[in-house]
Order: sequence, then C-alpha cells, then structure tokens
Amino acid sequence: MKLKLKQDIARRPREVVNKLANAVRREIGRHSPSARLRKGPPEALLGLRRLVANPRQFGGFVSGPALAAAITREVDPAAGPVLELGPGTGVFTRALLARGVAEHDLILVEADPLLAARLRTTFPGALVLTCKAASVTPQMLGNRRPAAVISGLPLLNFPGHEVEKIVATAFGLCTSDAVLYQFTYGPRCPVRSDIMARHGLTAQRTARVWRNVPPATVYRINRRAPD
Ligand SMILES: C[S@@+](CC[C@H](N)C(=O)[O-])C[C@H]1O[C@@H](n2cnc3c(N)ncnc32)[C@H](O)[C@@H]1O
Repeated sequence: MKLKLKQDIARRPREVVNKLANAVRREIGRHSPSARLRKGPPEALLGLRRLVANPRQFGGFVSGPALAAAITREVDPAAGPVLELGPGTGVFTRALLARGVAEHDLILVEADPLLAARLRTTFPGALVLTCKAASVTPQMLGNRRPAAVISGLPLLNFPGHEVEKIVATAFGLCTSDAVLYQFTYGPRCPVRSDIMARHGLTAQRTARVWRNVPPATVYRINRRAPD
C-alpha cells in the first residue's frame, strides 16, 4: 500500500493531492459542517498543493502554531516595521499580529504569485511584495527600515550563493541592530558559518519546537558586536 502510494505520488501528484484534499474536507465536514468548507482549502491543504506544484520553492509543510509562536516571540511590536520572507499561507504573519505588530508595519515578501495574492486579500493593511527575497530594494519598502526579519524560507533547498544574497539583502534593508529569525528542520543553523563570518553575523539557537511537523529549531541571527 505504502509503495503504491509512493508510485502514485510520483506519477500523478496533483490527483493524489486532490484525493487527500477531499478526504480532509470530508473529515472537517463531519466535525464542523459549514463555514470553513465554503472558504476554500484549509491552510495545510493549500500548503500541500503549493508544495506539490513547486517542491524546491515551497520547501516543506505549513508550520504549526507552536513554531509560529516560537519564531515571533522576541519581536518587539513597538520597534517598527517587520520584514517577513516567505510568509506562504500567513501562519507567522498571524502570530506577528497576535504579538501586537500593527498590520501596516508588516512587509511580506512572497515569491509565489498565488500565495502573494491571497496574502494581499487576508492582510489588506500589509505591504505584500511578489518577488524573491534577494531582489528586494530599499525603494520597494518606501525606504522604511525594519528592525526584525522573520524568515520562513526553505534555505536548505537553496545553493550557498543564493542564501548569502538573501542574508546580505535582508541585513542591508534593516536597521544596524536588526535581528533575523530563521527556522530549520536541520541539525544546525541553515546559514553556513563562512557566510556568517563574511557578513559579521552571529547565530544563537532560541527554541527547539517538538510540537511541529517535523520538529524544528529557531535561530536568532544578528550582527556581531564590535570587539
Ligand atoms: C516552507 S514555506 C513557509 C511558509 C510559512 N512561513 C510557514 O512556515 O508555514 C516557504 C515559503 O517561502 C516562499 N519562498 C521560497 N523561496 C522564496 C524566495 N526566494 N523569496 C520569497 N519567498 C520565497 C515559498 O513560496 C513559500 O511560500
């Protein structure tokens, strides 16, 4: 059965996802018969569809609430704009709002046009940029300088030079004391140590989140204090 499912996914990924989608809808329908079904696919399902459509870019499963709380918990809502890279379906965005960050202080950079359009509808007060994180310019932010960056980007899927460009761009856009929060499913910080050294950055692990599928680790990355 397992093998058959694997073969099916390889040959007909969309069909398998649609079947899964219908099964999830039926299950939700049994417990809450009305509104949620009319609003379109639930978040996890939409994430699954985008993952099948573009595995390298989407990178993984939609994060759970425990990871969303852990990656946003040090953000100071009074510190000004927050830059979010790869918001996807908006799980971390909602956690930022719950922390008290004003919607007009959110700058969301999402490469997938379908997800970006959805974010624009869901968070009408936020600035949503449909582009790659490495190509954002200060002008696109209206010259606002964020003090925090929340990244949901699947950095482990990217080559080193792309990771370096993303990190350099993000810190170039922000205040000098800005902090970037990045999660990973891997065993160490997903920004390589040579990249960190070249940009004068340092990383600390701030959380291990076991109640996420898969379990994840959050890193705080910021500029090293001068000696
Ligand atoms: C794993 S999903 C994470 C979504 C959400 N933050 C979460 O944790 O559930 C990664 C998201 O990053 C977006 N993405 C991937 N590469 C990107 C890039 N270079 N610039 C901006 N967004 C990117 C994908 O389209 C996807 O929505």
